[in-house]
Amino acid sequence: MTLFPEMFPGYLNNSILKRAQEAGHLQVFLHNIRDFARDKHHITDEPPYGGGGGMVLKPEPIFAAVESVLVGDNQSPVILLTPQGRLFTQQVVQDLSAEKQLILICGRYEGIDERVRQHLVTDEISIGDYVLTGGELAAMVVVDAVTRQIPGVLGAEGAAHQDSFATGLLEGPHFTRPEQFRGWSVPAVLRSGHEVQILRWKRHQALRRTWQRRPDLLLTAELSEEDKQFLATLAVEQTVANDQEE
Ligand code: 6GU
Repeated sequence: MTLFPEMFPGYLNNSILKRAQEAGHLQVFLHNIRDFARDKHHITDEPPYGGGGGMVLKPEPIFAAVESVLVGDNQSPVILLTPQGRLFTQQVVQDLSAEKQLILICGRYEGIDERVRQHLVTDEISIGDYVLTGGELAAMVVVDAVTRQIPGVLGAEGAAHQDSFATGLLEGPHFTRPEQFRGWSVPAVLRSGHEVQILRWKRHQALRRTWQRRPDLLLTAELSEEDKQFLATLAVEQTVANDQEE
């Protein structure tokens, strides 16, 4: 549900989301909220009661748009995209990917009549602590992240369970051809053909990168004894480097 349905096709009709729709894994229906305004001029917003400037989205067209989809025993979540919502994390992505249908409402302008929140919406989501001009980009973020959890959407290679955040760690570096580029070479271990060493190197790189950039993730990641030992060596490495600085 959006006032700007034309913002969506460029993103949805390319790459993996395009393929997911062609394969029947995903259907997206865009509803223009303006089409559900019953007055002659299809007004969707008005100044706020109590003043304060700006414009507020009216409740009627939003209720009508959502109710055009919420028919029969449809119990789908009705999600308002708003910076006031709960933070969109990979855990939320996984929870939402269990749903058959999501109804996404893109907020706009200064706000939305509070009765939409109170009596229509079942969930509110924010994609981060910054302010966008509207919920459309956030809705596309939700569609993208949830779609790639659907079995069959990604090939086995890119399987979603390998992702950063799903494993609880950031991924390590990736390299492809050429072997030499401007004098910078690909790490020898990756060209060694030693599968066991390669897997261990990749694990260490992931641990190192997570330790450097997102140490908070290490508190909840699943770590083996070997992982913990390696992290301990990173801590020692750091201490030695600090001591040498002084
Ligand atoms: Cl969902 N909407 C808007 N307008 N801004 C945001 C957001 C959503 N999430 C982060 N910033």
